[in-house]
Amino acid sequence: MRITFAEPALPKKGTLVLFSADGPALSAIARAVDKDLGGAIKRAIAASRFKGGKGQILAVSAPAKSALDRILVAGVGKPGDVTPLAMEALGGKIYAALAKTGGKDIHIALDPAKAIKLPGAEMAAHIAYGIRLKSYRFDKYRTKEKPEDRPSIAKVSIGVKGAAAARKAYGILDKIADGVFWTRDFVSEPANILYPESYANQLKTLSKLGVKVELLDEPRMKKLGMGALLGVAQGSIRKPYLVVMQWNGAPGSKEKPVAFIGKGVTFDTGGISLKPATGMEDMKFDMGGSGAVVGLMKALAGRKAKVNAIGVVGLVENMPGGNAQRPGDVVTTMSGQTVEVINTDAEGRLVLADALWYTQDRFKPKFMINLATLTGAIIVSLAREYAGLFSNNDDLSKKLTSAGEAEGEKLWRMPMGETYDKQLKSDIADMKNVGTRDGGSITAAQFLQRFVNDVPWAHLDIAGTAWTKTELDTVPKGATGFGVRLLNRLVADNYEGK
Ligand code: BES
Ligand code: MN
Ligand code: ZN
Repeated sequence: MRITFAEPALPKKGTLVLFSADGPALSAIARAVDKDLGGAIKRAIAASRFKGGKGQILAVSAPAKSALDRILVAGVGKPGDVTPLAMEALGGKIYAALAKTGGKDIHIALDPAKAIKLPGAEMAAHIAYGIRLKSYRFDKYRTKEKPEDRPSIAKVSIGVKGAAAARKAYGILDKIADGVFWTRDFVSEPANILYPESYANQLKTLSKLGVKVELLDEPRMKKLGMGALLGVAQGSIRKPYLVVMQWNGAPGSKEKPVAFIGKGVTFDTGGISLKPATGMEDMKFDMGGSGAVVGLMKALAGRKAKVNAIGVVGLVENMPGGNAQRPGDVVTTMSGQTVEVINTDAEGRLVLADALWYTQDRFKPKFMINLATLTGAIIVSLAREYAGLFSNNDDLSKKLTSAGEAEGEKLWRMPMGETYDKQLKSDIADMKNVGTRDGGSITAAQFLQRFVNDVPWAHLDIAGTAWTKTELDTVPKGATGFGVRLLNRLVADNYEGK
């Protein structure tokens, strides 16, 4: 699917998308088209419940006196409803309404009313972004799908005054979407195809964008003393990797780099503390935190962000093989602290413990943000509406929360503190890897914090948001890519060119 921008012009054929404000109040172009068609659009509206409300869609098929295949009228609602996010949602709705109509050529005629504050070029760019994000499909393993069951859209052109500005704005969004799609691809991939080594090898391709990529293999991690990460990996025949990515987009800067760390468990069986069979297939998504980190690196490099950013992902498979770690085993982390592994299914925190320590030790970053599908308990707390935010820093938490609001990837800050931390007390080691069932997401965060020194840090528990079982505005069912947009925004709004 190709998306282009041009100055306003009306097509004679194909699909035409027009707009209406709340009322309904057709846009000037829509009124002119309606007049040429002898009032076909207004009659269709009168015969429906369409009011031009935010996100409402009305389709008029094969209107007489015209060679158009169809007209779609999209509601923008009230002037105050027109935000970038709302336009993305509307783009997603437009895509969903047209994807399987058989239409190939879509023309969107955008002529916003004066009362709308968002510039037309911005509206156009965000509608295009919503269309692209919603068009994602993971269909590489479908060999028998009939062409008529596949989406038909080949071209989308958006006619808008100031097309050059729209093209420029979309150019950046398109790079972010590339990052989101990369994340979705990795998270969707089954674990027989995506395992630490194959994943790490794919990450090397980031070097084409100017990202420095290093692979740390098992012997190297052994030397560094990453006993917690390696303990998780030892039950699998798949060799673990730690992948370090560096994007130096601000070469002259004296600022410390920003760092993002991801849990990359390519499959989580639970290990010897084996998970139940029902739903275990979902655990291919347990590398979602790492997926967000690598998608972010791709987005930052793709749009040449003026920032120095580090990405670190710990890639392991959690299997109950003959050499698997046992409940009760004690492992020594890179930090020197020892951990009694009570439950081998609490593996993500073990992987992150060494990845976090390594990152702060080597890079002395300005802050560290880690992402992980860490606990089922966060879904109990927040459902799939918010990801859990745990942090030792109010300023970083605020910046993250507002970036999330702006991008529709929402965060809810959770409490932390000593009483929770006490749950991790072990009788024979420095800590246990699990507490009680109570506050399971919080004790997981407390565990991570034990591997963070005096550096601003945030942990995002994305177990509820990395995957969706329902269609969302700009996310089809499946891997969401959650975190890429959020962190890209955090960087763009706070850490670039400053
Ligand atoms: N990857 C899981 C977290 C998870 C569970 C995500 C269910 C989505 C749905 C993680 O490794 C895990 O197994 N966590 C355990 C921790 C427990 C053993 C303390 C959990 O949440 O049950
Ligand atoms: Mn687990
Ligand atoms: Zn896991």
